[in-house]
Amino acid sequence: MSRSYHIAIAGATGAVGQELLRVMERRRFPAGKLTALASERSVGRTVEFRGEKVPVGLLRDDAFAGVDFAFFSAGATRSRQYAPAAVRAGAVVIDNSSAFRMDTSVPLVVPEVNAGDLAEHKGLIANPNCSAAILCVGIWPIHRAAGIRRVVVSTYQSASGAGARAMAELESQSRDVLEGRQAKPEAFPHQIAFNLFSHNTRIAENGYNEEENKMVEETRKMFHAPEMVVVPTCIRVPVFRAHSESVLLELERPMRPEEAREILESAPGVRLVDDASANRFPMPVEASGELDVLVGRIRQEPGNPRGLAMFISGDQLLKGAAWNAVQIAECLIGTARA
Ligand code: A2P
Repeated sequence: MSRSYHIAIAGATGAVGQELLRVMERRRFPAGKLTALASERSVGRTVEFRGEKVPVGLLRDDAFAGVDFAFFSAGATRSRQYAPAAVRAGAVVIDNSSAFRMDTSVPLVVPEVNAGDLAEHKGLIANPNCSAAILCVGIWPIHRAAGIRRVVVSTYQSASGAGARAMAELESQSRDVLEGRQAKPEAFPHQIAFNLFSHNTRIAENGYNEEENKMVEETRKMFHAPEMVVVPTCIRVPVFRAHSESVLLELERPMRPEEAREILESAPGVRLVDDASANRFPMPVEASGELDVLVGRIRQEPGNPRGLAMFISGDQLLKGAAWNAVQIAECLIGTARA
């Protein structure tokens, strides 16, 4: 008989927590038991899993007895506070927050890129930043073939990356603006409806914001390429749940767009969407709900045979978060499949 696993989700009521439940249903993940955890605000509520209502319990140190996999999606503070207790209780923690990503003893994994790093885990595995994960799936196959020296990337990031409240704000603010009312930013620092703005994380001393620095550091860590130059500009746009990225690569050797297309066509986790005659390329509405990352708009940099431009869209809540986390668990239990 095949084994089933006791799963805990810390942050089960949040945008990523809800998506984790849906992905496990969709993948028929062998979950025998689910422990749903959130803050005091949610105790007494239920979450739905495989047609059943599961009561939400309080996230605390003693909530992890008997748990095999604990998915954390309740923010970095909660991960720092409670993940060590989950590991001590014997669970493998797959952490969606930034708390442990750059810890050298913690593998940071996108399975299509560096599943091999999972062998090093000591109970804790970090799930990357959503923009970094989506970028890495799209450019890794090119890196393997031709070595990327430099990546210039501009993002078009959806509201979902800032949580369920931010998605609700995009909806209500759009209605307010259309009906002639003043937009009142609450979850975001600026108006999100019919606007765009530089990513809402703090600007660090190097002039890049935290999201941009995560893209740089995490891409280098997953690629085992500490020297790779990554120059990101992260922008929040009024899209609900898929991030898009405009990318310019400088490679070690020349590569024609035809070769890049051929490589990407058979790359795991990628769907090539590159139909110039129909002017059809990756779009966030098409990437939403998809496990694969859409890649297309592949062009040569004018006058530079080693320069390649492309456009990527990927579901922030899926490959950028919940699906990547469940995929890591699938790799660990040996059921990873397309
Ligand atoms: P709750 O719904 O009880 O606030 P999102 O990213 O969509 O905002 O979701 C955040 C998730 O993290 C929610 O499930 C939320 O639970 C949970 N969370 C936030 N703060 C805490 C906390 N102090 N303790 C436990 N869970 C928390």
